[in-house]
Amino acid sequence: MKIIASTTFLAFLALGAGGGLAQQAQAPAGNAEAGKKHFMADGCWQCHGVTADGSAATGPRLSRTALPYDAFMTQLRKPSNEMPPYEAKIVPDQAAADIYAWLRSLPASPDAKSLPLLMGMGVK
Ligand code: HEC
Repeated sequence: MKIIASTTFLAFLALGAGGGLAQQAQAPAGNAEAGKKHFMADGCWQCHGVTADGSAATGPRLSRTALPYDAFMTQLRKPSNEMPPYEAKIVPDQAAADIYAWLRSLPASPDAKSLPLLMGMGVK
């Protein structure tokens, strides 16, 4: 009886309440390793850097992006400002999902204080 009840609940979620959630597109499964290759081959690194940590002059940090997947896709296809648009024939949806997966998988940058070389340059 319990099993039937929870199955009904799941069906309700999928059909009803789940509709709203489905709108906030979950990122499709992406392959981070392939994403890194696309990021390099498609030239994203030229503005966002090879570690995707960005540069004030050319493009913001993308590593560990907090952007939801749909906002990421909107920026890719219809950029908000200076970034060139990337159509699906240049960066297909799967490649974009792979790039997103790679960006989200990147490790946090080390604290400057943990880098002896920077400390020698007077970083406090
Ligand atoms: C010619 C430089 C340039 C290239 C190449 C480029 N970008 Fe960008 N990107 C920018 C700039 C500048 C912005 C800031 C918003 C704008 O100007 O549209 C940006 C913003 C973004 C953002 C939004 C970041 C945020 O947190 O708001 C994402 C995501 C992004 N780029 C992904 C990519 C991907 C993926 C590629 C490669 C397919 C790429 N960009 C290639 C310059 C570039």
